[in-house]
Amino acid sequence: MNAADHVHRDLGTPAPGSDAAASGPVRLTIDGVAVEAPAGTTVLRAALAAGIGIPKLCATDSLAPFGSCRVCLVEIQGRKGTPASCTTPVEAGMVVRTQTETLARVRRGVLELYISDHPLDCLTCAANGDCELQDVAGEVGLRDVRYGFAGANHLGQAKDVSNPYFAFDPSKCIVCSRCVRACEEVQGTFALTVSGRGFDSAIVASAADPFIDSECVSCGACVQACPTATLIEKTVVENGQPDRVVKTTCAYCGVGCSFKAELKGDQLIRMEPDPDGGANHGHSCVKGRFAWGYATHRDRVLKPQVRERIDEPWREVSWDQAIDFAAQHLRAIAAKYGRHAIGGISSSRCTNEEVFVVQKMVRAAFGNNNIDTCARVCHSPTGYGLKQTFGTSAGTQDFQSVDHADVIMVIGANPTDAHPVFASRLKKRLRQGAQLIVADPRRIDLVRSARVEARHHLQLRPGTNVALINALAHVAVTEALVDEAFVADRCEHDSFERWRTFIASEEHSPEAAELFTGVPADDVRRAARLYAAARNATIYYGLGVTEHSQGSTMVMGLANLAMATGHIGRDGVGVNPLRGQNNVQGACDMGSFPHEFSGYRHVSDDAVRGSFESQWRVRLDAEPGLRIPNMLSQAIGGEFRGLFVQGEDLAQSDPNTQHVADALRSLDCLVVQDLFHNETSKFAHVFLPGTSFLEKDGTYTNAERRINRVRPVMAPKTGLSEWETVCQIATAMGYPMHYDNAAQIMDEIAALTPTFRGVSFAKIDREGGMQWPVSDATSRGTRILHEDAFVRGKGRFVLTRYVPTDERSNRRYPLLLTTGRILSQYNVGTQTRRTANVTWHARDVLEIHPHDAELRGIADGDAVLLSSRKGSTTLAAQVTDRVTEGVVYTTFHHPGTAANVVTTENSDWATNCPEYKVTAVEVRPTNEPIRQDG
Ligand code: SF4
Ligand code: SF4
Ligand code: SF4
Ligand code: FES
Repeated sequence: MNAADHVHRDLGTPAPGSDAAASGPVRLTIDGVAVEAPAGTTVLRAALAAGIGIPKLCATDSLAPFGSCRVCLVEIQGRKGTPASCTTPVEAGMVVRTQTETLARVRRGVLELYISDHPLDCLTCAANGDCELQDVAGEVGLRDVRYGFAGANHLGQAKDVSNPYFAFDPSKCIVCSRCVRACEEVQGTFALTVSGRGFDSAIVASAADPFIDSECVSCGACVQACPTATLIEKTVVENGQPDRVVKTTCAYCGVGCSFKAELKGDQLIRMEPDPDGGANHGHSCVKGRFAWGYATHRDRVLKPQVRERIDEPWREVSWDQAIDFAAQHLRAIAAKYGRHAIGGISSSRCTNEEVFVVQKMVRAAFGNNNIDTCARVCHSPTGYGLKQTFGTSAGTQDFQSVDHADVIMVIGANPTDAHPVFASRLKKRLRQGAQLIVADPRRIDLVRSARVEARHHLQLRPGTNVALINALAHVAVTEALVDEAFVADRCEHDSFERWRTFIASEEHSPEAAELFTGVPADDVRRAARLYAAARNATIYYGLGVTEHSQGSTMVMGLANLAMATGHIGRDGVGVNPLRGQNNVQGACDMGSFPHEFSGYRHVSDDAVRGSFESQWRVRLDAEPGLRIPNMLSQAIGGEFRGLFVQGEDLAQSDPNTQHVADALRSLDCLVVQDLFHNETSKFAHVFLPGTSFLEKDGTYTNAERRINRVRPVMAPKTGLSEWETVCQIATAMGYPMHYDNAAQIMDEIAALTPTFRGVSFAKIDREGGMQWPVSDATSRGTRILHEDAFVRGKGRFVLTRYVPTDERSNRRYPLLLTTGRILSQYNVGTQTRRTANVTWHARDVLEIHPHDAELRGIADGDAVLLSSRKGSTTLAAQVTDRVTEGVVYTTFHHPGTAANVVTTENSDWATNCPEYKVTAVEVRPTNEPIRQDG
């Protein structure tokens, strides 16, 4: 059976932990059959794994056993009564019986009680055919119910339909508490409780609020766990049960959750997280599970369009006409102004295969290396920094590694909003006792939420990351917390000694750093000791690290600290970028940067370039091409004149909107491929419709380097996939490019890229997603990097001098603006704003500290003018002490907000990644209307 068809069998209780299982297998007899199970397994799991059926209701293998429903009873030789098999561990020599007269009678009695308080509307119930209560009633042979409905019952209770995606019908609830436990154990939100006792017990959200007003974050774990129709997706209620399944991968964030897309004919009914998914193990967030309606939204453009000038209306044309138009215009520009006057931008939203063909088109058909990617504006410093220190541009761990961490440092990341499924796993580890250090200018939810509290919140001023990381490292070095053995064995001697002297200097002490960071030196010292002295300490970071003028320096600072303290190369440690977009890792891996082929190999390397030249049968440029900022400034200068942009809204997401608009307006030919018209396509001459993730065939690579399959759930609504479009443009430009299918593109990637050598669609379909490097056909991939040696050999320490950003606050612009994301929305909102997720975040707001608000006469909800040296916009103020004095914060999900109107062109010194996270601003009350979308 291939992975796409694989059906997960619920074995009732989770597999035992590795410690319990390590004591070896246990042999027992169940219904006369000899069974072997790892120590710590429950009788229920052992029986179900052996194919012996035991009915169950409150048990499911994603949750700890609870033992409340009394349906899974068994008889055990030598023991009194009928113990619950879901809470009874196997023992050597145990003799278990699962089917006896007594058990059948007791089970029927239990079911009779449930059914006597349950509406008997099975035929019209939305869960008919997918209801465990119905199944178990059949399994135990329940034929009639002796108790009528005349007495007290729970029937007729009002439904709660307040959540846009799921409904709660308490009359169908059997109080098994699977929902409550899912919310606690899997999601970690603790939004549900069982109120009352006995007959009066009932499931309530928060303080008996409707779901929409409760703490619920709509992850859907409770809906998935519910064995009845009590909690159920509205799409199932409206459209009926799905009848086929296609396994695929979420297209939102870099967690890369695996899903079973459940369909009825061609209609997508439900996205169910895949329990076998390596990144998510059956969990998801509100975006992946529910916010997929944008894929079939009426705003989608399904036919190609062209126009000679950007002030003309669009003309719908055939694919052939659009491709000819694009190819001719790009060729004409190259002929007139030289081949370096055109270029392309690939997308972290697209598959590896789509990205690979875009960079191939640019290098082989355009004849230059003017290829860049939207990763330029987010994680390019990760690529640079980790390559310099460790030797490869990727996070070191898989997500499950966090289960072994004793201290977790989260820097410049907000996982509960931006990487929610990983955040749930992280919170679970914290509930088990791991310690948390948060370094962030804002009090993110992880600092204090249900059953989670950070030991240290280092609330630094925006733009002072490097001063902070140097101070943390200073403590490790000067307080004898360096792992000398690790450093001696695994790292370069000379670069370490230089770094040790550098970092030990008094200018890097926490006391000196406090002047810049504002973080009390004592807090820094205690946090540094906690991290450095831990058995296993790990670092997770996000765009709050990279999107700075010293983004690359900071990434190297993190790597230095991890190496010096020996927290690298095993479970529970490491340095891990939390990637924003679903395929930002893959887009970088596939050679989207102007200086690198796939696998991060420099274009000037003759041997590498030679291998591409012989495979592609074309001479390739040995000089790096233009980065996005250079393309834009050369466009304004008139040297750069033609651009192909796939799946990125530059005009909305890149900094200094006015500059970007001026550049795009200067182009002679702009080709945009996307799902919807956007801010960038306002300047385009050709619009090529793109496909949603539900139509794609390919792979995405998530933040843990896991290459996951994206399978077409429906045929492309546009008639042509992105890679076919690109091949046709390249061919029309005179460089023939052809593949029969996306699998062939991956075969070419594997042939040309050592880290992908053993990857193929067939292998992923057979064995599931795998983490690169996958060195050959027999390899299953690599969970943890740098285990025995760094990819570059010895780990390299780099000096990380703190250089304050040029973007300073002053009397005119006394506040610092920093930006971030919110759970329900995604980036510039192109997708999520076209779903019911707008229920939670209908507009962006500006968070401002009460003291700063009071000084300016601003009250909560007031319209305010946010202005910087670059521009201004209006927003609603939210007065909150989540931000410190002197700092304001906003999200950027709504184009109307135009947050990038105020951001500057400052960028990382090494990679040009924009400094989105620091802009000097002023905020004033205004009578101007708050800007709206559209
Ligand atoms: S809502 Fe569903 S999962 Fe929760 S207690 Fe009721 S039946 Fe069980
Ligand atoms: S949807 Fe998620 S957060 Fe909301 S109650 Fe259910 S499990 Fe909890
Ligand atoms: S955590 Fe990320 S990948 Fe997973 S469902 Fe949510 S948005 Fe999708
Ligand atoms: S399944 Fe064991 S008690 Fe409910």
